[in-house]
Formats: sequence, C-alpha cells, structure tokens
Amino acid sequence: MKKIWIVAFMLILLIPGASAYQIPEKGVIYQIMVDRFYDGNQSNDQPFYDPNHTDYYLYWGGDLQGIIEKLDYLKSLGVSMIWLSPINDNINRMVGISAPYHGYWTRDYKRIEEHFGNWKTFEHLVEEAKKRDMCIVVGFVPNHSNPENDGEFGSLYDNGTKITDFFRDEKNATLNPYTGSLEYIYHHNGEVKNYYGWEMKSKSIFGLADFNQLDPWVNDYLKESLDLFIKAGVCGFRIDAVKHMDLGWLMNFYAYAYSKEPLLIYGEYYRLEYGEDADMYDFYRYSNISPLLSIPIRERIVSTLGFGGSFEDLANYLHIYYSHLVYPNKAVNFIDNHDLPRFLSESRYKEGYHMALGILMTLPGIPVIYYGDEDYLVSKDGKGDPYNRPMMVFDNTTEAARIIRTLAELRKKNDALAYGDFKDLYKSYTTWVFERSFGNEKIVVVLNKREEKNLSFDTDLPDGTYRDVLYGVEMSIKNGKGTLKAPRNRILVFSYIGKQEKPLIGSVTPYLTQPGDKVLLGGVAFGKRGKVIVGNKEAKILEWKNNMIVFEMPKIKMRGAWVNVTVENRSNVMKIRYLSGDQIPALLVVNGSDVNTTGQLWIKGNIPELAEPIPLYKSQTGYYFQIVSLPKNVAFSVELYRGAPWDELEPLNITLYGKSNSTVILRSKPYPRENHEYWPIYIGMIVLGLILITLSFKRR
Ligand code: NOJ
Ligand code: CA
Repeated sequence: MKKIWIVAFMLILLIPGASAYQIPEKGVIYQIMVDRFYDGNQSNDQPFYDPNHTDYYLYWGGDLQGIIEKLDYLKSLGVSMIWLSPINDNINRMVGISAPYHGYWTRDYKRIEEHFGNWKTFEHLVEEAKKRDMCIVVGFVPNHSNPENDGEFGSLYDNGTKITDFFRDEKNATLNPYTGSLEYIYHHNGEVKNYYGWEMKSKSIFGLADFNQLDPWVNDYLKESLDLFIKAGVCGFRIDAVKHMDLGWLMNFYAYAYSKEPLLIYGEYYRLEYGEDADMYDFYRYSNISPLLSIPIRERIVSTLGFGGSFEDLANYLHIYYSHLVYPNKAVNFIDNHDLPRFLSESRYKEGYHMALGILMTLPGIPVIYYGDEDYLVSKDGKGDPYNRPMMVFDNTTEAARIIRTLAELRKKNDALAYGDFKDLYKSYTTWVFERSFGNEKIVVVLNKREEKNLSFDTDLPDGTYRDVLYGVEMSIKNGKGTLKAPRNRILVFSYIGKQEKPLIGSVTPYLTQPGDKVLLGGVAFGKRGKVIVGNKEAKILEWKNNMIVFEMPKIKMRGAWVNVTVENRSNVMKIRYLSGDQIPALLVVNGSDVNTTGQLWIKGNIPELAEPIPLYKSQTGYYFQIVSLPKNVAFSVELYRGAPWDELEPLNITLYGKSNSTVILRSKPYPRENHEYWPIYIGMIVLGLILITLSFKRR
C-alpha cells in the first residue's frame, strides 16, 4: 500500500504544473484606486467617509474585500496583473479638506490601511487572483511618508511602534559634510524649487516628509516593508516619484527586491514630454534597472486621437521615445490614470477613444487599463485629480471592453505584441500602418481617421487573405504588398502566427541581476529542455517550458555592466545588467581639490556596478558626490570624465580609488591588498614549491 502512495506522489511530481511566474510583456495591467473600486466590507468605511460619494476628498468605501469580489469581472476583461494604489497604513487625520483616501500619505509601511483591510485580506486577494491566473502589483512610496506641516506631521511607525515625526526628527538632524544635506530619518532641506540635480532628490515635494534613504535604519525599514509584500506573493511594484530619489539607491533597492523574486517593477518619473535634461536622460538611459511608466507618450496619443493631431507626428515621436529604452517592450503604457484627466473628460470623441485603446494594446510595452476605461467612466463634476477618481461602475459589455478583451487575448497568442519590433509601413496625417514582428509571428495595425481610404503598402506578412480581429475587415497580400479598404475612424489589427524553428528570446525579467537571482526568459521554440548560457557560463535551470525558462544567475568574472544571455548559443542574444554580489548603498565622494576642472563630472569604474558612466553632483561644501550601489568588501578604481550626458565624455586622465563602505571618499592611492586576498598567491606558491620538490626527487 505504501508503495502505491510513493508511486502516486512521484507521478504528481512529474506532471508539468502551472508556473509560479508570468511573463509581464504577455499580459495587461488593470489599475485600481482601491477606495474608489468596490466596497466589500462596510465595517471599515469610517472615519472620514462619505456614503453619498459627492465629496471627492473623503473615503468612499472601496477595499480589498471589494476587489476580491470583483475578480471574476476583471478576469472577464482578459487582464492579468492588477495594480493597486498604495495600501500601506496611512495617517489617521485630515490634511486641510482631504482624507488620505488615495493611499499616498503612509505612516506605517509594515501595516495595511484599516479602511482597506489587513494582511490577511491582502493574502486572500493574492491567493484568489492566483486561482484565476492573475497577480497583484502594489503601489509603494519610498520617497516620502506624509505631510510635514499638517495631519500627523510626518509621523512614522514600525509595525505599530512610533519611530519619529518630522519635527522630532529635525531636532536630531545633522549636516552631511559631503553633500551639505541636513538629515536624519528625513531630509530637512526645504521644498524643491528647481527640478534638477541634488535638490530634486533631497528636498520635499508637495510638503511631504522626504526620506533620507541612505540612513541605515530607513534603508532597512523600506526593504523590510517591501519584503512583506513579496512574501505575501505580489508579482510587482509601481514605485512612486522615482524622479525624486537617487538612481543609485533605487538600483540597490530594486536589486534587493529582485534577489527575492523575478518581479515586474516600474517607476513613475513624472514628466509629460521626453526631454534631454540630464536627470531624465540618465533615468531612461539607465532604465535598464527597471521600466518606467510611459508618461511622455500619453499626451501625444490623446491629442492625436482625441483632437486633430497627425499620425505621422505621433509615429515619429514614438520611435524617438522608444529609441531611448533598453527594452521598449517593458515600457508601461497607459492613456488614463489617477493624476491626469481621463481621455473622455478631455475629448468626448468616442471613436477616437476606441482607436486610442487599440493603440495602447498594440504598441511596444505593457498596457495599463485604468479602472472604468472599459465602460467610459468619467465624472460629471470635473476633469483632473480628484475628479479622475470617481466611483467605479461595472459594465463589461461595452465596445471598449470588447476591444480590450479581444486584444488582451491576442497578446497571449501572438508573441509579436509582447516581444515584437516596431516598424512603420505607411504614415500620413490621417493614416498610420505599423507592423510588429517576432520571428515568424507578426501583427499589422491600421489606423485611419476622417474618411474611408484605399490603402496599399509593403509588408513582411506572407501572401494571403487576412481578416482583422476587431471588425472583420479583409486585407489581401500579394507579392509582399498589402491592400485594403480602411474604414474611417477605426483601428484594425491583423495577426499572423507562423512556425518558429529556432529558439528566440523575447523578454528578460528582471534585467538587473546578481548571482543567485531567478531570471525569467520569455520567448518561443525553447523546446523541452536545453541550456542557458550567460556570458560563458552555463546557468542552472529551475524551470523549462517551450515559451518560458526560469534560470539562476551564475557568478561571472567581469568588469563590464552588461552580460549576454542565449539559449543553447543558438538563439538571439539578450543583455542583462550584472551586479557582482550582495549590494550596499553608498555615498561616493570626490574631494573638490582632487579635480581641477569645470562642467559636468562623471565617473566610470572597473567593477560592473560602476561600469556605466555616473554623473557627480557638486556640493556647497566643496565635494563632488553621488549615491551608488556597490558590492560588499570590494576595492575598486574609477576614472574621471567631463561632458554633457548626450555627448562623448572627455577623459580627464585622473584615476581614484575606493573600497566599499557606506561612505567612500575616493583617494589617489590604491588600497593595499587585504590578508585574505594574498591567500590565492600563498597557495599558488606552495603548490609550485611541491611540484619543484617532486621533480627534483624524480631526477635523483
Ligand atoms: C505621484 C502619484 O501618482 C500621485 O498621485 C501622488 O500624489 C504623488 N506621486 C505623491 O506621492
Ligand atoms: Ca527624495
């Protein structure tokens, strides 16, 4: 009898189970403002509650239980990731006329806001979502806690124990001699006035108590809090206000999260247009540490579809935008959100809105549907914040819901939507045709406004007759030329899925890794088993399916920032940003007297963490500095450079040396080796000695 049980157990182990992971690019995100979605538990509505839903600044009752009850509704739209507005415990007081219904005024990062539920409800939500093949992304706010001068005055709790508030903290604050920042748990440097450089990172925005993330307690506290969500089973985070935090600290923070799970983390860098100012440029160039919300393209999509904008201009702008991203398919795209007016409150042009939804679902990047996008939700009371946050109305039978559902299903089937490139086939003021290809899978998208039009264009799709997935319009292709009659004010999507012989990688999650991290590869034709090669090392395989591989990042000896990954050395090559070991956040300081030059200074170092150029800020106290993420216990050197971020950097032929620590003052002399670093040399000498003795004995 016992034997039967053992055999049955072994058989269960052999059945290929569902993976714990999803490839983010294949999915669609649904964004929820928790308070405004659905009230599943009336007992947590008070205080500051408005049952009539007329005062936009009070709580309206939505909670985690409400989301659990609406999971089947969400599933019916075809979405796979549910992004919640922040749910950590917020202050228990009003600030002026506003309650913290939005969740952005945290006081305890280790607890859940009582208006929304508790850890148990949250875990239940994660579990129920998982049963339906969906997962939860939470908003996390590591830049600041809550208002300094009102409400609870920046009060901060560690799982119920009060740690500080803004004024108590100010009494303990000291001046950092290298950066000139007055700080303890919080920064006490006043409000940001100039949106660049050190000031943008170390002063407060909207009067919110700004964290000093380099303080070891703050650093640990934020990571421990993040970990609570990871342990509860989230699949990602939306990180608030990344523009106001040091990129080096974020890299450290993300590396910590990625060391736990292969998550999707995307940041909010708030700026409506892509600009070549140094900070934004760095964030996008280094968007390799994590994707960002595509805020700079949203305005263009709305003005082109909601008003009379040109498709040709939109296409050109999008190509420039994507050219700045390491992985364009990981951009997180949206039309509506809780900070900007909804499309339909700016323009009532519904056909344009449907086309905009279609573009959102087919452009490179992961689409976000803001709650109510599927049924034209708008407030009659106003446009922007807070009127872009009305109470949800549930209707999944609309034309918008049909477009979302149809294209969400297509994203799962046709990999060109998740991993494909992006090429224009035809563009004019009123018409745009683009194609996306991934190996032998292809998509052609046709947009046409104003009047019906006969179109003809070159395409990579094989000859034949195609029917668009949304309206059934026909397109015929002969000798590589596509022709169709494009109806007015419609978006058409044509799909082709051919067979792929060779493995092809489409996505790497995450693409900032350290040895031991789990990494997901998404793609096609991986087969049943095989090898993943990272640099020149074979990685340990944790899971292998035809369209997804999970492997463990090996330890690699290298100085550069990027390492190549391939499947069996037969597939295409993708790059991964490599971090060489356990990371610590560090303040890197260059003494002003070591550098006799003007202009923007940069460093480039001889370890992977410092291998990409890093800009330095100049302090009032005569130093250059930057926050970086370093491997523990490593001596390194850096070279100094000068120049604008978009120019070729000019070497200054100055080498400085450092050793990892929380503050590293770079010096002009190398560090002597430590005792343990001599061991390999001693062992080598002993082995050599033994060989020589053996040889001399043999000769005798
Ligand atoms: C951006 C968020 O999206 C917004 O709603 C919030 O008020 C600010 N960051 C401050 O946290
Ligand atoms: Ca800050």
